[in-house]
Amino acid sequence: MTRNKTKIAGTGSYLPERVMTNDDWAKLVDTSDEWITTRTGIKERHFAAEGEATSDMVTEAAKRAIEDANIKRDDIDLIIVATVSPDTAYPSAGNWTQKKLGLGPIPSFDLGAACSGFLYGVIIADSLIRTGMAKNVLVAGAEIMSRVINWEDRATCVLFGDGAGAAVLNAANEDGQGILSTYWGADGNLGDLLIQPAGGSAIPASRESVEKKLHTVHMKGNEVFKNAVLRMQEAAIKAIELANLTSNDIDLYIPHQANIRIIEATIKRAGIPREKTLINIDKIANISAATIPIGLDQARKQGRLKKGDTLLMSSFGAGFTWGGIVVKM
Ligand SMILES: CC(C)(COP(=O)(O)OP(=O)(O)OC[C@H]1O[C@@H](n2cnc3c(N)ncnc32)[C@H](O)[C@@H]1OP(=O)(O)O)[C@@H](O)C(=O)NCCC(=O)NCCS
Repeated sequence: MTRNKTKIAGTGSYLPERVMTNDDWAKLVDTSDEWITTRTGIKERHFAAEGEATSDMVTEAAKRAIEDANIKRDDIDLIIVATVSPDTAYPSAGNWTQKKLGLGPIPSFDLGAACSGFLYGVIIADSLIRTGMAKNVLVAGAEIMSRVINWEDRATCVLFGDGAGAAVLNAANEDGQGILSTYWGADGNLGDLLIQPAGGSAIPASRESVEKKLHTVHMKGNEVFKNAVLRMQEAAIKAIELANLTSNDIDLYIPHQANIRIIEATIKRAGIPREKTLINIDKIANISAATIPIGLDQARKQGRLKKGDTLLMSSFGAGFTWGGIVVKM
């Protein structure tokens, strides 16, 4: 029996109730449902309610994941929250989640790898579980992008949504089950292409930083697009190769959902059929670190991902960061 692999034991997700459609955006900025749909594949996105914070959403997703994993809440011994939109700069959204879940003094922290954050978190959890440092790790991805977008910039505001997804990871107890490969990378040289410039030590909050809307998403869309296509393809192909598999072995591919055209270019190059690709960008838009865990939970609940299936996930995000993982469910 193989005991040295890590499995996804349970998943949960949470999408806030409020739905913002493309037509809703067209009332606020010079855009149209037609432009957004054809250029991005997005039709609508969820936005958090006033007063709702990132850790509130993580807590809901986490409760569902813990129940799904069929473990006790107290069995969780580490919380990793991937986010670029935490409740507060510190304490971390991980710390607030720990409080809201009523968990003991277990380590909890945030991970900043933008859209690749969830996959980065899974890679860290995997290594800690395999070395015996942790037993049941809660890895979440959660964002309230509606609070960090520039509501007047049509080129970026329409792209993002809010939500949270979570997974419980622990040791696999069946032969062949668990994480088969991981691949990750980053290139800080291209950091300026997708950036929230202010709010950190480089440009602390000031009247000027607020007036210039430097606390919001700034993106060179075309450049990001080109890099996203290359790195999403690379991450998917490398993860498959490292698992000693071919694209024919993949039962389901969950890509990060930033733009339908990026997904289409990736699956074409990686040789994965569209029917085997989870596409939910029309309903949720780009929720950065939360996108993949939400897709993972939806796929399992919809019966598209069953025990024994081989799952591929890949992502690309600000940093730039990217990652690819193959898991036998
Ligand atoms: C943002 C993105 C959808 C823009 O699509 P694009 O085809 O590259 O469009 P461009 O940026 O070249 O803009 C084309 C025109 O549409 C306009 N436009 C931009 N946003 C618009 C909107 N929401 N509605 C209508 N027109 C819009 C631009 O102003 C531009 O007009 P111009 O030619 O008169 O200057 C695309 O670049 C993209 O998806 N980039 C990657 C995003 C991403 O992956 N981000 C996150 C990584 S995790």
